[in-house]
Amino acid sequence: MAKKKLVVLTGAGVSAESGISTFRDSNGLWENYDPQEVASIEGWYRNRALLLDFYNMMRANLRDVRPNDAHRAIAALEADYDVRVITQNVDNLHERAGSTRILHLHGELTKVRPENGVYDQTYSEKEVFDIGYEAIHLGDKAPNGSQLRPHIVWFGEAVPKIEPAIDWVSQADILLIVGSSLSVYPAAGLYRYAPAAAPIYLIDPQEVAVHDARIIPIREKATVGMKKFIEMIGK
Ligand code: OAD
Repeated sequence: MAKKKLVVLTGAGVSAESGISTFRDSNGLWENYDPQEVASIEGWYRNRALLLDFYNMMRANLRDVRPNDAHRAIAALEADYDVRVITQNVDNLHERAGSTRILHLHGELTKVRPENGVYDQTYSEKEVFDIGYEAIHLGDKAPNGSQLRPHIVWFGEAVPKIEPAIDWVSQADILLIVGSSLSVYPAAGLYRYAPAAAPIYLIDPQEVAVHDARIIPIREKATVGMKKFIEMIGK
């Protein structure tokens, strides 16, 4: 029998217990940094060096953190489900926990690409490459001669992976959302594409302002919430 399709949409909360700050909680990243400065395309054109430093710091921190039990539980579910992970996170903790089908909606910290000109945000997947946890600096050039930039979706930029994400969600038998305030579109609207019959579980210690009769809230941190979710789906 074909395995049921379990689509997991994750946000910063799934990595919080690994020691990565969320964005909008108290003491979250956006309390200490202005997203318009360090995470927008206008910010990049204003001050490339500042953005390079910010993402160099985030990339270096990533080397020192580890996946937690929530990442591992999501990966282990592949034994019984056809699991697809759509993450808003730019960390690589789902990969390091062993998940095999992951779509990074907002890019990946360990990858870079050429900036390809001020008005040209388009790029080919062939131009994206892995730098691990290394830093990049002003003057570091891609093979095509343009400045390297982080492979991150900034505010003001398109979200190229939204189409395949919609495709996955619209085929889900079960949708699980873990640790996202669901405040950044288009990711925040993805759950609406779940088929009418698909239950939507939502793990978050705080109340998330979404209104859909299908949502089954699990008000826990990700590690504990994943245990409860697995009990609830009867694995
Ligand atoms: P937010 O910081 O907006 O939301 C994090 C959510 O995780 C909140 O609902 C918290 O209650 C919850 N949370 C905190 N600790 C948790 C834990 N231990 N277990 C489970 N949940 C926990 O982060 P996102 O929704 O991921 O984009 O933010 C979306 C996007 O906004 C990010 O991808 C980023 C940001 O700007 C870019 O930088 C492009």
